[in-house]
Amino acid sequence: MNAFGFTYQFVPSRSSARALLLLHGTGGDENDLLPLGRAFDETAALLSPRGRVLENGAPRFFRRLAEGVFDEADVIARAEELAQFVQDAAREHRLSDITAVGYSNGANIASAIMLLGLIKFSGAILFRPMVPLSQPPEITLRDQRALISAGGLDPIANSVQVNALSDLLRERGADIEVVTQPAGHELIEADLKSGRDWLASLAIA
Ligand code: MLT
Repeated sequence: MNAFGFTYQFVPSRSSARALLLLHGTGGDENDLLPLGRAFDETAALLSPRGRVLENGAPRFFRRLAEGVFDEADVIARAEELAQFVQDAAREHRLSDITAVGYSNGANIASAIMLLGLIKFSGAILFRPMVPLSQPPEITLRDQRALISAGGLDPIANSVQVNALSDLLRERGADIEVVTQPAGHELIEADLKSGRDWLASLAIA
């Protein structure tokens, strides 16, 4: 569907208060992460927008100047735009308990939204994330949690990036769990298990 400035997929839930906000990687679209979202939670509503930036035809959530070099002014503008979409879609579809699940570029816009204090997610699962903003504001992120699932062999979202991001989030009070998978930038079965287990632990906490 098309509304609030974005093309997106929405799968309603009949029995769960939880919604998963699914944010794809570079070159993906709104359909990519629907199976993953469903595998994470059989009953949650799924909200999955397509990134509005095109890089040689490949959808992304913000502009980059080169691999791993982000246009930070665009990161901020796009994070604000996406946060507005999420708020509009949440009102329209009556969603309140929203957990973000992002892969790569999608993880980076999710953590930008967190670091800018634009939305308080119930949780965030960040697969292969990097640092989206070099100097985010000094706000408190107490009561916010995220799972970072890194690839030990990932040349892009490498351990320097992952440690810097987890430090930024922790310095602001967020509760961050980091798992390192025996993988590169691509997701493996162990990522799915880590995400599922972490989400289940949120439901219990
Ligand atoms: C990507 O390929 O999407 C990058 O590794 C992450 C990004 O550019 O945000």
